[in-house]
Amino acid sequence: MTFLSDAYAAAFGTPEQAAASHRPAALRVLICGAVDDGKSTLIGRLVAEAGGMTDDQRLALAEASRLFGTTGAELDYSLVTDGLEAEREQNITIDVAYRYLATTDRDFVIVDTPGHEQYTANMATGASQCDVAVILVDAVRGLRTQTFKHAAICSLLGIRHVVLTVNKMDAVAYDETVFREIVDAFLTIAAPLQLTVAPIPLAARDGVNVMVVSTLTPWYQGPSLLHHLSSLAVVPAPTATGLRLPVQGVARTPEGERLYTGSVVSGTIAANQKINIASSGVEVIVNRLVDRHGPTDEAGPGEPVAFTLTPETDLGRGGMVTSGSDRPVLSDLFSAFVIWFGRQPLFAGRDYEMRLSTATSPVTVTAIRGKLDVARGSQVSATHIDRDEIGICHLATPAKVAVDPHAHCPPTGRFILIDRASGDTVAAGLIRHALDRGSNLFTQRLTVDRQAREGLLGQKGLVLWFTGLSGSGKSTIADALERKLHAKGKLTLLLDGDNIRQGLNRDLGFTEGDRVENLRRVAEVAKLMVDAGLIVLCSFISPFARDRAMVRERLSGCPFFELFVDASLQTCEQRDPKGLYAKARRGEIRNFTGIDSAYEIPTAPDLVLDTDRASADDLTEVIVSWLTQRGVLA
Ligand code: ADX
Repeated sequence: MTFLSDAYAAAFGTPEQAAASHRPAALRVLICGAVDDGKSTLIGRLVAEAGGMTDDQRLALAEASRLFGTTGAELDYSLVTDGLEAEREQNITIDVAYRYLATTDRDFVIVDTPGHEQYTANMATGASQCDVAVILVDAVRGLRTQTFKHAAICSLLGIRHVVLTVNKMDAVAYDETVFREIVDAFLTIAAPLQLTVAPIPLAARDGVNVMVVSTLTPWYQGPSLLHHLSSLAVVPAPTATGLRLPVQGVARTPEGERLYTGSVVSGTIAANQKINIASSGVEVIVNRLVDRHGPTDEAGPGEPVAFTLTPETDLGRGGMVTSGSDRPVLSDLFSAFVIWFGRQPLFAGRDYEMRLSTATSPVTVTAIRGKLDVARGSQVSATHIDRDEIGICHLATPAKVAVDPHAHCPPTGRFILIDRASGDTVAAGLIRHALDRGSNLFTQRLTVDRQAREGLLGQKGLVLWFTGLSGSGKSTIADALERKLHAKGKLTLLLDGDNIRQGLNRDLGFTEGDRVENLRRVAEVAKLMVDAGLIVLCSFISPFARDRAMVRERLSGCPFFELFVDASLQTCEQRDPKGLYAKARRGEIRNFTGIDSAYEIPTAPDLVLDTDRASADDLTEVIVSWLTQRGVLA
């Protein structure tokens, strides 16, 4: 995923550079629609007719059209973009293709994303970089869910101008009524999206209304598509003015000074300027400033620079320097749009790695506040976010990070989420705003800490996490172990699924989302108890690997061991101590682990306890000697 693609800046220089030349900045145009709406043909036409095609390419197209074309003796413009598909296939990291066009009036970057309906993520990637979207509708098929989805994503990502092109007008005999009906329906449904919509009837294959207005649509009074795009005045996005420079790397100069590198996102950085470290507010002075040409006095947005600071600080990759009155917000809780493309749904309580600009941080999705009904452009309630849906979520980071609302400063307002277990990119997100708790809550430093309490108790706190199927023997072993530890004079606490679910977690059931929350709360309780110096035994099915990883992460500040109580489903079902397997088989209990809800076997538990082969008493001995050997139990 190249969500934060800088392709535009790389190709055209910064907006400032473009403004300095006499031509206006290139217009970035997103083309939305499926291949069968005529997207490839339209892009091909624009590229070929607006001069983006060399004579050689035109000859090659004629040859390709003869061999593979679907348009008889005519050139098949869809083949122009099929070449792009091939380019894309060769490099799977490129999921957005760019075409550059220049007319006498204006330069254009045509941004094309794979049109399959499931690729919302790619479409969103493209949209985050564009000024205007051309939404293609097939005149014969009319509006589709996808049309609104595209419109909603465009609106969400800050695109204000949409060209609604009703294509294949030739197939409906250039009937004005068909055009009007489609446009009216679109305008009604897109009304809440606050888009400026320019409707244009097209027959892209025949070039009707693409470059020039055709006599075939005498009832259409507006400009051609290219004329409209050439003259479109795009109101510039409200841009951030203060310095934002995320640090990309730190090196040492031959003199041993720390040399920071990074690209200016907004504002300017100047030699001898007083600037601040975003995370701490500490003031530093820019000592030396270098750009690609050598020492320089000042650098602006988009420019990669290296600099030294006095006094030296411990600023590292992911940190940011700022100045001026317009600065990013420092927060550890914020609301964001999350465009989800993980294969498994997103549930509140899950932890991910967040990459925002150059910074990387663990992040927890603390709440799902709803999702976008993209077909209607409205917000609806949700308990989870499925693949290709856009959720409105609250996210929390352990430490404060410097962020901006995406609408204010896109490069520091968007992020991706990585699933730490698989390393997959599972979401792209846009910060809406920081939430109050984030900036108004501070961690209170407490004097009496775990070590102090452990000293008083004469023991070391630790957490033993028993995971396994219902009936595998978790609670039996945990209970026997607690008895043994208690007899040794240890202060313990056993948190057991069945018991906790009758009190603290009485409001939770067994859906995936509820299980995530069950374990999140238990992890927080275990954290408090281990802080009290106790030996905490937790007995929970905890069927999902990522939730066990979440628990481990939350308890990373103390000794934590995952014990897999291993018994086959068959054994557990035979034991069936509470008669629940029988009920589940009869369909009286739903989402029962092992029957109609999965148990993901731990791949790297700290200890495996096989209750098919050994008794609970023997296994408690195994645990005690194992803990003693590791030096965590005196
Ligand atoms: S967990 O999946 O969220 O970790 P937990 O360990 O708290 O589950 O609770 C499991 C206990 O709830 C089981 O021992 C069983 O007695 C009871 N139970 C009731 N319904 C279910 C169900 N659908 N799936 C699993 N356990 C259930």
